[in-house]
Amino acid sequence: MSMRDFPKLELHLHLEGAAPPAFIRGLAREKSVDISGVFGADGGYAFRDFGHFLQVYEAATSVLTTPEDYARLVTAVLEESAANGVIYSEVFLSPDFCGGSDVAAWREYLHAMQEAAARAEARDGIVLRGVVTCIRHFGPERARAPALCAAETAGAFITGFGIAGDETAGRPRDFTWSFDLAREAGLRLTAHAGEWGGPVSVREAIADLGVERIGHGVRAAEDPRLVDQLAETGVVLEVCPGSNVALGLYPSWQRHPIQTLRERGVRVTVSTDDPPFFRTSMVREYEELARAFGWEAGDFLEIARNALDAAFCDADTKGRLA
Ligand code: ADE
Ligand code: ZN
Repeated sequence: MSMRDFPKLELHLHLEGAAPPAFIRGLAREKSVDISGVFGADGGYAFRDFGHFLQVYEAATSVLTTPEDYARLVTAVLEESAANGVIYSEVFLSPDFCGGSDVAAWREYLHAMQEAAARAEARDGIVLRGVVTCIRHFGPERARAPALCAAETAGAFITGFGIAGDETAGRPRDFTWSFDLAREAGLRLTAHAGEWGGPVSVREAIADLGVERIGHGVRAAEDPRLVDQLAETGVVLEVCPGSNVALGLYPSWQRHPIQTLRERGVRVTVSTDDPPFFRTSMVREYEELARAFGWEAGDFLEIARNALDAAFCDADTKGRLA
């Protein structure tokens, strides 16, 4: 069995971060916008460090200005995911970038994205669900509007709410208003933590926001008591090893803590985060994990089961995927 053929479930993918460079370049050309600073000599995205990555991400995203652009993006991203053997994808959607978090505008973007997702599902069988995301470095006041958008559109397609962006900005408890609103609307919760912040950041996301999954969470490995807590409570980590290595969190795949976390009983899953930015794909993640840790079919099956259990979709959808 080739790595392509393992059925994969991806729980941590930023929609704009999955945009192929050629797609963004094409839109920039159509709209006569100059974003040449976003690309390096090889035509791919270019950035120096995480802070610069966020700037380049937002500059690339600036060419996505209409519901139709987002529909085309969903089509391109799901085609690539399906080609990597992904059968289920949970994607972070940012109302801040889709109509400035105005609820009426957000509904139009969402409608266009859902139609594109339905076409992809009919063609390739891949199932998409959306996790609405606020952006930490935009601040807690600005996070209220995406939470309202999420609460207004919660349902079979919008199944979760989360927070991404610069983890060193503010504290999780600053965002409780938004997370409480999302929870009351029936949404499932996740937060980026333990990527640029240490174990305290993971503890606070769990205690103050009540999340059941953590985006990344890998820095929890630095605190044995927290590792035990994660194992005992079953909080699931959305681990993105290729992203962590590309951003310099770990010097190599071999030094990545995913295997240690697993051995200590933490429920981990594998995702790509922003694949073209980090020159990765789900197939590459699987290949590198096999090379670094000797993972085989049984290991990948366990990862897929963890993801199915932790997915925010309803039981019927899970039944179809099992
Ligand atoms: N937004 C897109 N990718 C991200 C990452 N790796 N961490 C935080 N926010 C992000
Ligand atoms: Zn992320």
